[in-house]
Amino acid sequence: MSSDSQYPTTNDSGIPVASDEHALSVGPDGPIVMHDHYLMEQMAAFNREMIPDRQPHAKGSGAFGHFEVTQDVSQYTKAKFLHPGTKTDVLIRFSTVAGESGSPDTWRDPRGFSIKFYTEEGNFDMVGNNTPVFFVRDPMKFQHFIHSQKRRADNGLRDHDMQWDFWTLAPESAHQVAWLMGDRGVPATWRHMNGYSSHTYMWVNAEGERFWVKYHFKTDQGIKCMTQEQADQMAGSDADYHRRDLYEAIKRGDYPTWTLKMQIMPFNDAKTYRVNPFDLTKVWSHKDYPLIEVGKLTLDRNPTDFHSEIEQAAFEPNNMVPGTGLSPDKMLLARSISYADAHRARLGVNYRHIPVNTPRCPVHSYSQGGAMRIQHSTDPVYTPNSKGGPKADAQRYPEDAVWSTDGQFVRAAYTLRKDDDDWNQAHTLVRQVMDDAQRDRLVSNVVGHLSGGVTEPVLARAFDYWRAIDQEVGERIEQGVRNQ
Ligand code: HEM
Repeated sequence: MSSDSQYPTTNDSGIPVASDEHALSVGPDGPIVMHDHYLMEQMAAFNREMIPDRQPHAKGSGAFGHFEVTQDVSQYTKAKFLHPGTKTDVLIRFSTVAGESGSPDTWRDPRGFSIKFYTEEGNFDMVGNNTPVFFVRDPMKFQHFIHSQKRRADNGLRDHDMQWDFWTLAPESAHQVAWLMGDRGVPATWRHMNGYSSHTYMWVNAEGERFWVKYHFKTDQGIKCMTQEQADQMAGSDADYHRRDLYEAIKRGDYPTWTLKMQIMPFNDAKTYRVNPFDLTKVWSHKDYPLIEVGKLTLDRNPTDFHSEIEQAAFEPNNMVPGTGLSPDKMLLARSISYADAHRARLGVNYRHIPVNTPRCPVHSYSQGGAMRIQHSTDPVYTPNSKGGPKADAQRYPEDAVWSTDGQFVRAAYTLRKDDDDWNQAHTLVRQVMDDAQRDRLVSNVVGHLSGGVTEPVLARAFDYWRAIDQEVGERIEQGVRNQ
């Protein structure tokens, strides 16, 4: 062998191979032979290199880092990773929602913002977005919503008509659509956007006192967005721009950081707050529940193998450690089942054995078997047992992230409160949060989007939808489209 490499090539069993270039042949001019198992291994492995994409959020990337608690929030939660001074390793993945794994990073879309905290009491996952609200409030609608944002069945094309058809028939989407069509619908980079839990979750302190909470990761780089023109141009010139930006920033030591701030609502306020605090299409007023600082998230390490560390990363909103928990938000409760199911389908039942998903604390579960199991199961494999197997400790780990409820089975999402209306928070966003220039860009973005193939009667409904959000903005959008 003449080579400048220090390693001879081996096959996947570690056996050195004779050639990187030639298949085994019957003479240089003859046929190849079937027992060239190295060639077979090369072809077979290649044919199986791709795993299914995530259904939504297929395009993305991520990095590693840590979260450090800088403030004392122990009065609200006993979670160990939220104790003052605690530093926890994290993995983060950013993504777009509707595009496939090769789609441009700068298509207008919400961005996923998923963080896995490798805590000493198990993995804690915050699987959020860069917007504080969502399009629908009932999990029955989620699948239909995603279908409407992806591709048609007949021609495989994305279709604005289908998107607006869904949105205008689901007025609870108004708040999120107003966000999406505004400047924040295309962040300049992932480093320049916030991350939100969007959902309400629970915290429990050492005394068992419960609080409703929302997580806000505020970018320390400042918010920066792209105009539609910049985004369109970038989609053509560098479809992987956001992925590249994050990778290169970390590589040059320009580590992005976010400050975690919480909105915290006393448990009993939820009963009387003027909007239903579990409705994912609504925000809580910051005047009512001001942000409380917790700590800093820093990303300082790039993945070294995209497939094993990012493509195979499995986030699940049900990963709540002691001192944290879910809430009665129906979307969140559905998500607490959906993600683990997606991982079993996409990665296999032992997806937590892939190192990026493996907890950094001891696991003492009774699971056993399954394809690709690499961690040992140990006897006894059943409970109750008298053989020294693991035992749930209700004294140390009570089921305390709970709430009570009563009522007849119905198919409905939330009883209306005083300010529960699908339009008013969208109106506040468009009229009070946005300035004139931002509103102009919003109108221009919507006019452009509606002019991209939206037909009657959906078009007329879209004008009504925007007039319901804001009369003047609605008029301008209609004029803009009609005068094209
Ligand atoms: C990805 C389901 C709502 C954020 C996914 C995946 C599924 C899913 C099946 C793919 C998971 C995978 O294969 O790894 C649902 C359902 C929802 C819902 C059933 C509502 C009922 C939401 C909401 C948010 C969100 C409200 C944000 C607040 C994300 C993110 C990812 C994702 C960030 C990508 C995770 C990653 O980076 O791997 N969702 N989702 N989803 N979803 Fe949802």
